[in-house]
Amino acid sequence: MTATPNSVMDVEYEQPLQDATASASVCATKHAWARVPVEPGPAERAALKDKIRRLLKERNAVMVSHYYVHPDLQDLAEETGGIVSDSLEMARFGRDHPATTLLVSGVRFMGETSKILSPEKHVLMPDLDATCSLDLGCPIDEFSAFCDAHPDRTVVVYANTSAAVKARADWLVTSSCALEIVRALKEKGEKILWAPDRHLGGYIQRETGADMVMWGGSCIVHDEFKAFELQALMKAHPGAKVLVHPESPADVVALADAVGSTSAILKAAREMDAHEFIVATDNGMMHKLRTLNPGKLFLEAPTAGNSATCKSCAHCPWMAMNGLADVARVLETGANEIHVDPALGRRARQPIDRMLAFTAALKAGQVAGSLVPHIGAA
Ligand code: 13P
Ligand code: SF4
Repeated sequence: MTATPNSVMDVEYEQPLQDATASASVCATKHAWARVPVEPGPAERAALKDKIRRLLKERNAVMVSHYYVHPDLQDLAEETGGIVSDSLEMARFGRDHPATTLLVSGVRFMGETSKILSPEKHVLMPDLDATCSLDLGCPIDEFSAFCDAHPDRTVVVYANTSAAVKARADWLVTSSCALEIVRALKEKGEKILWAPDRHLGGYIQRETGADMVMWGGSCIVHDEFKAFELQALMKAHPGAKVLVHPESPADVVALADAVGSTSAILKAAREMDAHEFIVATDNGMMHKLRTLNPGKLFLEAPTAGNSATCKSCAHCPWMAMNGLADVARVLETGANEIHVDPALGRRARQPIDRMLAFTAALKAGQVAGSLVPHIGAA
């Protein structure tokens, strides 16, 4: 890891996963891909869904799924009174739901956030090794040193991080609310230390003009979208609107008709007056986009074109690790429970509560700037 002159930290996030014997051409996420469950046949699939429906009732449990997981886990969550949503609403829904067990389908930070917000609940996940390149690329010791080097800055951390990194933060943000929170902090005259996604951070900096030093992490999925290939697809579909998640590189974001979180992408697709859309986000999103907009055509934004490798398939290998069989297994056995050290959880909860209070008040019509408490340096 190296610090560059403009205070961006370059992070080798793939390092922890790399097999020493692997050749350079082998995808660094092969360990995750190897764990992706085999698709069940129709009879097994139906039986697993029935079993999950029964166990959810027996265990007083509710499913909380992200838009990138398998369509079965999205549909079953909704059908059984749970939710499929972006990471912000997953956190809020899990906190507010009366169930005593949350079955979180997504990646580890989502389960940890739920546990931090609901320490009294059991939080189960289909596979505890489902992680995120942003989380992997922001280890607490290095991050703490980075914060120590900038004591005058307000620490704003993206949700895709460990509980320990959240515990060092003043504010948590997701891509649904990062822009509003940083803008409000800037209006209060605060300088920002941002981590870990450099693309989302760059987008926020360009939009708000805030003074930000940044960690250099990235999402292995969104990092692969390519502007040159996207322009070619746009030429072939001149009427298409381009929807981009802000974890994508700046030159891809620059081509967008709408930039935003997974839920913002969904909203734009519903509301924009167009028949065709090119979508630069994980292709797990296509399920909801297509089912909610049956008359519209959704195309995946191109990744690495002809040089594509298994690393650039626009689907998160860790999200793909979530499957029906594991959902049934953990509901039955109580395995794969998320634990967060209570003291760490209490500290990590402060920036999360701040974000949830900010977004709730903003929704209720309060002025963003007035929602920023004075919290001083990190
Ligand atoms: P959202 O908060 O937009 O759902 O994003 C979470 C995520 O991991 C995107 O890659
Ligand atoms: Fe992390 Fe990217 Fe996967 Fe989202 S899609 S969980 S940011 S690696």
